[in-house]
Amino acid sequence: MPIKEFRTPISNKPVLIGPDSNTDNIIFAIESSCDETAAAIVKNGREVLSNVVASQIKTHIEFGGVVPEVAAREHLEAINVVIAQAFEQAGLTPDNITAFAATVGPGLVGSLLVGMNAGKALAIANDKPFIGVNHLNAHVCANYLNTDLKPPFVALLISGGHTQIIEVKSWLEQKIIGETIDDAIGEAYDKVARLIGLPYPGGVNLDKLAQTGNPFAFKLPEAKLHNEFDFSFSGLKTASLQLIQKLKKEYNELPKADIAASFQENVTSTLFKKTKKAADNINAKTIALAGGVAANSEIRKKFFALSNQGYKIYAPEMKYCTDNASMIASSAYFLANTTDSLEVEVFSRMQ
Ligand code: KG4
Ligand code: ZN
Repeated sequence: MPIKEFRTPISNKPVLIGPDSNTDNIIFAIESSCDETAAAIVKNGREVLSNVVASQIKTHIEFGGVVPEVAAREHLEAINVVIAQAFEQAGLTPDNITAFAATVGPGLVGSLLVGMNAGKALAIANDKPFIGVNHLNAHVCANYLNTDLKPPFVALLISGGHTQIIEVKSWLEQKIIGETIDDAIGEAYDKVARLIGLPYPGGVNLDKLAQTGNPFAFKLPEAKLHNEFDFSFSGLKTASLQLIQKLKKEYNELPKADIAASFQENVTSTLFKKTKKAADNINAKTIALAGGVAANSEIRKKFFALSNQGYKIYAPEMKYCTDNASMIASSAYFLANTTDSLEVEVFSRMQ
């Protein structure tokens, strides 16, 4: 079990953080990597004491997507309010906090800077350690919130920027079994949603529409890849565009629900098939879904059906699938990295 020694920034006192620490670890975390400004307080990596999310959806709707400069400005406006609400909801003050944490990447640099600097400022002002958190690890850690999940397990990380099948061998050891070679699944959802004229945020709107359509109305292609656990969605995106152009000529009104349902059936079957095979290959019986697309109704349905076949399936509650700060706090607790401290800087992409 990991345990890490951190130092407070002013008095340089040691603070132990992690599952083996002999005192309760209460972590205050901030998330601001994209279009949500969030703060949360989590006890011992699992127990959510407060969870506040300010969404920028209303602002970005008029642009049809996230505009980085606009997002950074919105984070700046929301951050202090969100921090105050997180303390208030939990009924705690900075004195009760063991360490402060914030997402440092990957994400939009201007947006990350707002959250990370707020986190560092809180750490310095209250003489508590600061922990920089990787957003992708945190999505997987969302599965530890309010559950008893422990490694080993297989995680399917599906978000706006990533699509990976990961073997989580222990708290700190992860191996990527497969990943996308081009677009991320969330990106594919958002692009196809735009093609059929659905408003931002595309994924959730496409998901809702798909539930009213025929999933077998149109056949869309599945990529054949060298590593059978990798993904590719760019061909599917082009095929969807061609289908939509053809249907526009044939019909007065585009059969949007059938297109949405056919796209959803195609991608969710691929994700399900490959993840199950990857898990079976290494004899893993526990599968955890993570990332914004794990909120998808069809993906959840397909995976949870495995519960009747001897598998244990985890998926974060809906509010912990999309970006939130509770998962950042959980990751700070389970995966804390002492080299981070106050020197850590933001990064936009994984190296
Ligand atoms: O994890 P997340 O909130 O942000 C990133 O770290 O990328 O994921 C956002 C992605 C977006 O592409 C969004 O359209 C997608 O998750 N998403 C969904 C659903 N809810 C959110 N995609 C499909 N079905 C959903 N219900
Ligand atoms: Zn995310």
